[in-house]
Amino acid sequence: MASTIVNAPCTVPSVKGFETQNYVGLRPISSLWFNPGRTSTSRPRPLFVVRACERFDGSVKKAEMSIEECEAAVVAGNAPEAPPVPPKPAAPAGTPVIQSLQLTRRPRRNRKSPVLRASFQETSISPANFVYPLFIHEGQEDTPIGAMPGCYRLGWRHGLVEEVAKARDVGVNSIVLFPKVPDALKSPTGDEAYNDNGLVPRTIRLLKDKFPDLVIYTDVALDPYSSDGHDGIVREDGVIMNDETVHQLCKQAVSQARAGADFVSPSDMMDGRVGAIRAALDSEGFNHVSIMSYTAKYASSFYGPFREALDSNPRFGDKKTYQMNPANYREALVEAHEDEAEGADILLVKPGLPYLDIIKLLRNQSPLPIAAYQVSGEYSMIKAGGVLKMIDEERVMMESLMCLRRAGADIILTYFALQAARCLCGEKK
Ligand code: PBG
Repeated sequence: MASTIVNAPCTVPSVKGFETQNYVGLRPISSLWFNPGRTSTSRPRPLFVVRACERFDGSVKKAEMSIEECEAAVVAGNAPEAPPVPPKPAAPAGTPVIQSLQLTRRPRRNRKSPVLRASFQETSISPANFVYPLFIHEGQEDTPIGAMPGCYRLGWRHGLVEEVAKARDVGVNSIVLFPKVPDALKSPTGDEAYNDNGLVPRTIRLLKDKFPDLVIYTDVALDPYSSDGHDGIVREDGVIMNDETVHQLCKQAVSQARAGADFVSPSDMMDGRVGAIRAALDSEGFNHVSIMSYTAKYASSFYGPFREALDSNPRFGDKKTYQMNPANYREALVEAHEDEAEGADILLVKPGLPYLDIIKLLRNQSPLPIAAYQVSGEYSMIKAGGVLKMIDEERVMMESLMCLRRAGADIILTYFALQAARCLCGEKK
């Protein structure tokens, strides 16, 4: 059984109810908490406890018979009693009486008990695999996002800090920030994106001050700052200007790095931006800052709730000249080769669940870590199905995340990060 030592990077609840100096707590790896057979109301399984040291009081119970005597008894045919083989369980009346199929392989044998299923589980999932996307705004209150039940635009000084602390409590120590920028600061060239005292850099500085080991990913794209709602600068005739946009993105990435971002994540899909951002970061002394590239980002309708959250819908047209056609598979390789060559540290696929084949493709073709983004529409559909009692929200949530891992995602950006991590830690909502 795969187990992991409880080694809380933050304040993951450790083994409760045991003398911790005498015991080392081993917790079943988080995947085992994901047990589709377990009803959502049943208690999580107990922790495994391994004795690290034991005080031995020296008294051994004296056996009545020696080993030799026991063996002699068995040889003489007087083996002690053991329970009989239990009777064959009865089938319901009316079950057809048939000859067994002659099968050399019965795959169900390896699935017959929870212990076996745990032994042979191929994929695991843990809070360390999650990156928690968080929406921030200038306000002091947290405003619910209508299309994303359970998600809020968080006040950057209060609500956000509390949310990050909650996530760290259950082992989620990576976040990605998405700002809701006041309309008055939006412009056709999105210059607010590289204001060193803008909402995102200010927030990064605050979070790094409070939680120095928090891993912060940022979004690099102009859409939250663009009066046109596009990821790039829009020319008079509607064309998104590639190289000029990349120029802006480099400034944005450097500004985020200066504030303390660990990963800058270009989600804009302009050509050549990874290499340009890498060069810009390096020339400013940020060669330790990583790039998570949105390598295969599709022009998807699953982003609807996100755009509502940030009020970032394109004012006209769509994003099809830069985001990929959902019908395309091979094209993801073109993007992946470029991003790899330009120095990306992580390749991201987005959306997640409808694009498992793309995740697998990049996993097989690249040695780099792969990220999957379970986007707003995927989240909202599961939430809606749960609220309407059409599906079991918690189980579908865990299954969807496990499937993203199975397809090959190392990390998953998911709005479920906190809820799922709580579930993995055996806590209820
Ligand atoms: C924008 C961006 C989008 C998302 C992440 N970054 C929206 C878009 O491309 O229009 C979508 C995330 C989601 O739907 O959860 N650069």
